[in-house]
Amino acid sequence: MKRFLRNLHAKQTLKYAFDAAGLYAAKRLSNGKEARRYPKIHDVDINEERTRYVFTLLNGMDPKEIAKKEFVFRQVFGRNVELSGDLKRYVLTVYSAEMPAVLRYDFAEIQPVIERLKLGIIAGKDRHGRYVSFDLLTQPHILIAGETGSGKSTQLRSVLTTLIKQNRPDRLQLYLADCKKSEFHVFRKVEHVQCVLTSAEDIRRMLRSIKRELDERSNLTEQFEISHIDELPDDQRRPYIVVCIDEFLLLKKTPRSWTY
Ligand SMILES: Nc1ncnc2c1ncn2[C@@H]1O[C@H](COP(=O)(O)OP(=O)(O)OP(=O)(O)O)[C@@H](O)[C@H]1O
Ligand SMILES: [Mg+2]
Repeated sequence: MKRFLRNLHAKQTLKYAFDAAGLYAAKRLSNGKEARRYPKIHDVDINEERTRYVFTLLNGMDPKEIAKKEFVFRQVFGRNVELSGDLKRYVLTVYSAEMPAVLRYDFAEIQPVIERLKLGIIAGKDRHGRYVSFDLLTQPHILIAGETGSGKSTQLRSVLTTLIKQNRPDRLQLYLADCKKSEFHVFRKVEHVQCVLTSAEDIRRMLRSIKRELDERSNLTEQFEISHIDELPDDQRRPYIVVCIDEFLLLKKTPRSWTY
């Protein structure tokens, strides 16, 4: 009974949203009143995490109207909604919880998510509370962007912490640079860390030497006829190199030209 009432209430709320968005077909009845037909609600699935509606538009309804009126669903159900679909069939998901304001770093939770990756890192959690993971070997270039104070440097420190905890220093070398001179002191004494640089001139020199190492590695892959250094014989193996630069844009302001 409770479930039935919950479903009924959910359906009524969606109908209210259709009304508010003007998503209905109106017909004048002989008694002068107006009858409204709404998109058809096929399913309402409610659990603790979210309520999911499946509905189809009436034939003749313009799907562009749905995109244009998405804001109405947010006004009715709150900001935490997701609307997907096209042409006729749509799924509206209303999440019960906001994204958490604080996410504590916990390697014990992270390790099972990345253990099958070669150079696994985590980039926060998705809406369902699941960690989002990447493998730096398949996605070697990562840019963290965001407004001032949004957590870029904190995210970077969490990425570095994961790399350090998951990989031995003979398999991974870290080169850290930060023009603002504020972020990486905590890593200075870590065995993986080859340097922590703060001046543009030092960073330039470091990048040049890494470029030379990369050229050497290219030659090795050619010599051994392989496509990646991972396939080198054990006595030739080279550690992975990760270069991490915070406040990357400040480098652009340095007067010297950056040619490689
Ligand atoms: N996941 C998080 N949970 C809770 N607090 C966080 C989180 N990430 C960042 N913060 C807090 O937000 C503040 C700003 O973070 P941070 O310095 O990383 O931002 P930023 O984007 O690097 O800023 P800036 O552009 O000034 O360099 C810090 O006080 C940090 O502790
Ligand atoms: Mg920062």
